[in-house]
Amino acid sequence: MSDEILGRGGVISKRNGCVVRPLNKWSASVHLLLSHLHQKGFHQCPALVAIEEKCEVLSFVAGDCYDYPLQGAIATEQALISAAQLLREFHDASSDFLQQHVSDKLVWMLPSREPQQVICHGDYAPYNLALNGDSVRGIFDFDTVHPGPRIWDIAYAIYCFAPFKTDVNDRLGSLEQQTYRARLFCDIYGVSSLDRGQLVDNMVQRLQALVTFMHQQAEQDNRQLIENLQDGHHLAYLSDIEYLIENKRFISDSIIR
Ligand SMILES: Nc1ncnc2c1ncn2[C@@H]1O[C@H](COP(=O)(O)OP(=O)(O)O)[C@@H](O)[C@H]1O
Ligand SMILES: [Mg+2]
Repeated sequence: MSDEILGRGGVISKRNGCVVRPLNKWSASVHLLLSHLHQKGFHQCPALVAIEEKCEVLSFVAGDCYDYPLQGAIATEQALISAAQLLREFHDASSDFLQQHVSDKLVWMLPSREPQQVICHGDYAPYNLALNGDSVRGIFDFDTVHPGPRIWDIAYAIYCFAPFKTDVNDRLGSLEQQTYRARLFCDIYGVSSLDRGQLVDNMVQRLQALVTFMHQQAEQDNRQLIENLQDGHHLAYLSDIEYLIENKRFISDSIIR
């Protein structure tokens, strides 16, 4: 049976019901994490099936996949609620990972951030989730995982789900509607009052870190990131940073309990 191309310029494919993805420097650490998650009873993520010369073979996370613009099931309140619940379960299942792997040399794509409370997914966005109807049931694309505080990952997830995006293709709803969705995400996840007060700053810092990472990778000849910069992807993030800073007071006042 021939491979079915799934993404990223043909380097990710589906074969015999599994996903075949390129191996990276951080893959061994990601595999330890996936194994840990399953041991903790968190099964809504891929499991490692095999390692080939240059590829990892992962189990397929069943469900419907979406991307921007957010339309249909992924744009519903139920999708937002189930996404917040699933992020909480993932974080909780990852919270003792570092303690259990102190003697392992762990390598991640993205820098760790203090305090290292959980393993952050790093790209917990609508396009990395699988849905059953309008309920989020699974997460994939673990390349960006790294240790960090809960709010660091929550901030990026809320940025993507509210969404606090200004690009014509990605934007959805008014500032009031976006802020309502941000608050709902916080309520369902159970975000502390302290973290709610840090949410906008974390969204801004996370986007700044993303733009810095894009430039660093392009300088190191990462073809995909060079193309992304040429296509102006970073300009959308910079515009979203401005939008968040302009509206920080309104968003913060609305989500702090
Ligand atoms: N384990 C998986 N289960 C189900 N689908 C997957 C899985 N891994 C990847 N995919 C599909 O392949 C696409 C690309 O893979 P992904 O891991 O998200 O890489 P990238 O976003 O870097 O291209 C995803 O959007 C998804 O549709
Ligand atoms: Mg992806």
